[in-house]
Amino acid sequence: MPDSRIINGKEIAAKLVDAISAATGKLTDATGITPGLSVVLVGEDPASQVYVRNKGKMADKCGFKSEQHTLDKDTSEADLLSLIEDLNADPTVHGILVQLPLPDHIDETKVLRLIDPAKDVDGFHPVNVGLLHSGQTDQALVPCTPAGSILLAKAALGKDLSGLNAVIVGRSNIVGKPVAQLLLQENCTVTIAHSRTRNIADVVCAADIVVAAVGRAEMVKADWIKPGATVIDVGINRVDAPEKGPGKTRLVGDVAYTEVSQTAGAITPVPGGVGPMTIAMLMANTYVAAGRLHDVGTEHVLDLSALHQDT
Ligand code: GUN
Repeated sequence: MPDSRIINGKEIAAKLVDAISAATGKLTDATGITPGLSVVLVGEDPASQVYVRNKGKMADKCGFKSEQHTLDKDTSEADLLSLIEDLNADPTVHGILVQLPLPDHIDETKVLRLIDPAKDVDGFHPVNVGLLHSGQTDQALVPCTPAGSILLAKAALGKDLSGLNAVIVGRSNIVGKPVAQLLLQENCTVTIAHSRTRNIADVVCAADIVVAAVGRAEMVKADWIKPGATVIDVGINRVDAPEKGPGKTRLVGDVAYTEVSQTAGAITPVPGGVGPMTIAMLMANTYVAAGRLHDVGTEHVLDLSALHQDT
C-alpha cells in the first residue's frame, strides 16, 4: 500500500476560519451583531497562557469582540463564580471559556455548571452533553476537538459517513464519548475501545474510521489498521528525542505515524492535524452561539460543505 494521504488539519482549519470570518462580516453588516468571546484564565500556567493568547488572536482574526480575564492564582472560587455570573448576563458576550485546569482550591465542576449552556462554547455543560447524547446537535454546543475530528474525517471521506465502521480508542468525557455520539449521528456503526478491551488490535482492525484518543504515545500500530482506513489522531504526547540533541523532546500522537501511514488510506499528522481544528471549532461555536442568542435566522447559518471531500 502506498503512503496514505495526509489530512492537513492546519489548512482545513485555516479554511474554516476564513469561512467564519466571512460569515461574521456579513452578520455584523446585516444585523450589527459582533460575536463576543470571553476567555477566563486563573493563574499563570505557561501552557494555558499560550492557549489563551492563541484563542484571543484567532477571535480577532474572525472579527469577534474578544476579551481575556486573567485572574490571580489565589482568586477565590466565589470571585470566579461571580465573574461568570457577570459574563452570563452580559449581552455582548456570546461565548465563555474557562481555561482548564483550574487551581486545586476551585471546584471545576461547580464553575463549568454555572456557565450559561447557550454560551458554553467548550460544550462541557451537562445540558450540552445531554443534547449531544440525545442527537439534538442543532441545539447543542458540541465540544471543539470532537467536532473538529469529524470534519477531518469528512475532509478525507466526503460528507456521507453512513454505514462505516468507526472505532474510537479511548473513552474520555471530553473526546472519546462525544466523538462516539457524533459518529453515531453520522450513521456510523460505532465501537468504543479502551484499556479493558480484549483483543484491541482485532477490534480496531474492523474500522473504516479510527479515532485515537487515549493519551498514550504511538500506541496504535500498523497491524491494528485495516488497509485504506481513515485514521484521526487526537493524541498530543511529548516524548524524549535524543536524536535532536541532549534533553530535546518532540510531539507525537497516539498513533505510530510512520508505520501506520504505510497502511492507512488517510491520516492526520501530529502536530498539524486535530490540534488546529480545536481552536477553529471554538470560533465556529462562538459564531453559532451569537446567532442563536440573537435568533438571527437561517441566512446566517455557517456552511461547512466546502471543507468536505467531494463525493
Ligand atoms: N485546557 C486544555 N484544553 C482545553 C479546552 O479545550 N477547553 C478548556 N476550557 N480548557 C482547556
